Amino acid sequence: MTKKIEAIVREEKLADVKDALRQAGIVGMNVTEVRGHGRQGGIILAGRSGSTQVDLLPKVQFNIVLSDHNVEKTVEVIRQAAFTGQSGDGLIFVLPVDDVIRISTGERGHDAITYEGDIDTLPQSNGRTRVVT
Ligand SMILES: Nc1ncnc2c1ncn2[C@@H]1O[C@H](COP(=O)(O)OP(=O)(O)OP(=O)(O)O)[C@@H](O)[C@H]1O
Ligand SMILES: [Mg+2]
Repeated sequence: MTKKIEAIVREEKLADVKDALRQAGIVGMNVTEVRGHGRQGGIILAGRSGSTQVDLLPKVQFNIVLSDHNVEKTVEVIRQAAFTGQSGDGLIFVLPVDDVIRISTGERGHDAITYEGDIDTLPQSNGRTRVVT
């Protein structure tokens, strides 16, 4: 089963989250710039000529398509890297993905998002230590 993680984080956390994902073995991903607001509805900027409501705040969105069994780990990696504990830290959405097609080869599904060294390529851990010789 393939899932998509859409993680909306603070702009200044872009490098931290990217590095943490890389370290966790996430190879395939993309990032988009988004603007939006959560439950506070934006922020109010106080200026000399009164205050203005800025209701669409810039954020960065990480898009990662990956196998089901790597979702929880990846969510934790993102949370840790994006966390400040303050309001506005962001949100992580997890969505089902019906199919993936690699254009150059026609590979589909899991095969299409398999990269050298990616956690999706590594054998699924069964909780026991495996001795590789
Ligand atoms: N329901 C939603 N659907 C899509 N995007 C959303 C939704 N809610 C928030 N967002 C996006 O997620 C970003 C994160 O918002 P934010 O961190 O302020 O969340 P929050 O729910 O208000 O929690 P917090 O209390 O931490 O501020 C928003 O700036 C917006 O881009
Ligand atoms: Mg908020």
